[in-house]
Amino acid sequence: MAVAPLSLLLPSRGFFFYFLLHFVMVPCSLGSTNVVDLSYDFYNKSCPHVEQIIHNVVSQKLLEAPVTAAGALRIFFHDCFVEGCDASVLIASSRNNKAERDSEINLSLPGDGFDVFFRAKRAVELQCPGVASCADVMAIATRDLVNLVGGPRWEVQKGRRDGLVSKASRVAGNLPQANQKISQLISLFKSKGLSVLDMVALSGGHTIGFSHCREFMPRIYSYNETFDIDPTMNQDYALSLRGPCPRKNLDPTVVALNDVTTPFIFDNAYFGNLQKGLGLLTTDQMLGVDSLTRPYVNIMARDQQIFFNYFVKAMIKMSKIGVKIGSNGEIRSDCGSFNG
Ligand code: HEM
Repeated sequence: MAVAPLSLLLPSRGFFFYFLLHFVMVPCSLGSTNVVDLSYDFYNKSCPHVEQIIHNVVSQKLLEAPVTAAGALRIFFHDCFVEGCDASVLIASSRNNKAERDSEINLSLPGDGFDVFFRAKRAVELQCPGVASCADVMAIATRDLVNLVGGPRWEVQKGRRDGLVSKASRVAGNLPQANQKISQLISLFKSKGLSVLDMVALSGGHTIGFSHCREFMPRIYSYNETFDIDPTMNQDYALSLRGPCPRKNLDPTVVALNDVTTPFIFDNAYFGNLQKGLGLLTTDQMLGVDSLTRPYVNIMARDQQIFFNYFVKAMIKMSKIGVKIGSNGEIRSDCGSFNG
């Protein structure tokens, strides 16, 4: 047997980096750099029909409530940005824990979006109890929903485990807000390992769904000392939004379409809207104005296939943020509560 010289066994700088890379970075997979070990065939033996089971539930739910696709996509995004894609957003608050779901920004996440994930997981549990994580169910169901409303389809890598932490107090600073500057959005996405291009492509998720009046009202009334309406906004569009969103006696439950052109189809119309001042949120419109993001908006407005390609790439990246694998986390039996 060959014996390695002593110098190779001592912790040299090279060894130190090797140690860091293999024994520290891989199991943690926290934060932005995600070295994860997910696979396409993860359930091939343990639950071979998992994708079909989820697909059936999701298709049925979409027939009952077409708004489900947008709701689920936003919930999935909010899950991945807080504690990683680990279904922590599905946990219900308990007497001694105010969960992520009950943080201010998540209160507008719609019930139909939660319902589709819970239903899909229950259907999977009936056939393969204790095998598939809620986090994987979310990733697969979201992919199906996007595809069913006209968007692209991609293969989902699996093997995520469910998180053991869900705290409202850990949400702040991890999710974007409609009043933030593009530079703030860019740093937030960067902190999650996502590039400017990923951010623009993912914002294309606003090609479906709704926003509550309060999210864009500062744009349509008393915008600033010079302009009553945000000058980057199509003025007729802004005026049309004043009807459902009056300054006085506002109904806080009223929503407007994120994509005024083709609101229920997952297509690239959102980007064309931005070129015409038809972006609903300030942050949407700024993507079409800022010199760092505008070129991407223009490319994706011109070619839907390019948007789809970038969107898929970014979704796959996002769905790997901070995932738990191996013996981390757990396989929850009920997505709304931790085991035991
Ligand atoms: C870039 C920064 C982003 C900001 C500032 C932002 C902000 C918002 C806001 C304020 C709403 C309206 C919520 C409401 O009033 O109920 C919304 C809705 C939505 N967002 Fe985003 N978002 C961003 C990125 C994303 C991303 C990356 C995705 C997914 C890939 C996404 C998907 C959605 C969807 C689908 C809706 C509609 C939800 C529904 O109809 O229930 N958003 N977003």
